[in-house]
Amino acid sequence: MNLRPVGIIGTGKYVPEKVLTNADLEKIVETSDEWIVSRTGIRERHIAAPEEATSDLAYQAALKALDSAGLAPEDLELIIVATVTPDTFFPSTACILQDKLGAKKAAAFDLSAACSGFVYSLATANNFIGSGMYNNALVIGADTLSRITDYNDRNTCVLFGDGAGAVVLGPVPEGRGFKSFDLGAEGAGGNLLKLEAGGSRLPSSEDTVKEGKHYIYMNGREVFKFAVRVMGAATDEVLRKAGLAKEDIDLFVPHQANIRIIQSAMQRLNLPEEKCVINVDKYANTSAASIPLALVEAAEEGRIQEGDKVLLVGFGGGLTWGASTLVW
Ligand code: UT7
Repeated sequence: MNLRPVGIIGTGKYVPEKVLTNADLEKIVETSDEWIVSRTGIRERHIAAPEEATSDLAYQAALKALDSAGLAPEDLELIIVATVTPDTFFPSTACILQDKLGAKKAAAFDLSAACSGFVYSLATANNFIGSGMYNNALVIGADTLSRITDYNDRNTCVLFGDGAGAVVLGPVPEGRGFKSFDLGAEGAGGNLLKLEAGGSRLPSSEDTVKEGKHYIYMNGREVFKFAVRVMGAATDEVLRKAGLAKEDIDLFVPHQANIRIIQSAMQRLNLPEEKCVINVDKYANTSAASIPLALVEAAEEGRIQEGDKVLLVGFGGGLTWGASTLVW
């Protein structure tokens, strides 16, 4: 796949300080802690402060990842920010971050693949480094979904939270690093999960705001079915491409959208709970930040040892999916 092996050489994460619990949401919409926990596994989520935008969350996570990689911002060669809630349409959040970090040498762009964005970005950065074009890359999944969530809609407002997870990629010794990727899209399902207004099809107007079209729309039941299907298929495919068996996986890091989707994937893989990272209870669905928040938290807790085989898998708007295997 690569001319040289590429892996993760630094990690960092950030979540905003404010916590919104299920009990808080009970006061805002007609819902209950019991409904939310039993249907989703979520207990609380972190919400950005009014002055915090996606690049601010990304910046905090990036500082930690660079520090853990022992890399100075001015040595960075590439920055990719996976997000569907950029600070602005343009400049990209990656460019805003490049300036904040003082990473003057780095090329920078955003990547839009919703909750699969982080894995799409890893694959992209892996190819840049694997080919020899760049020697390192900062890859961040960051989203501030609270800014596009309708807190009058109980179908969606209980599901989402804000956060950022960052990794630094670079060359690693033979035998380590990324072993396979499986990326995919089913554009025909795009209407199941979308933000309708604000683009060139339907520019923002008084009417779009009145109709709430600047908020996330989701057909939860259909996305649920898609998720269970593609999590299984992408996992099989990414294992096949790496020549690995299910039993070889030491740590499974799925997109944190719903505990029931994660459990169905674990059952299919026949994995015990200790081999799976679950933090949806604390952070809810943070879109592109979900997989890196889970991965980085597991690394910080000492749950990943050198040489461990890790499988990442996610799905989301687009519709999209992305999976990867790597040796830590
Ligand atoms: O990152 C990718 C994005 N999204 C996802 O991964 C989400 C995938 N989907 C899901 O996780 C689930 O479909 C949900 C958690 C969104 C919903 O769970 P469900 O078991 O599929 O529930 P449902 O849509 O079948 O709704 C059941 C009932 C409905 O009432 P009626 O129509 O049966 O009377 C809803 O109105 O639950 C009601 N409901 C709620 N009740 C209390 C929906 N949201 C709430 C709520 N509190 N927050």
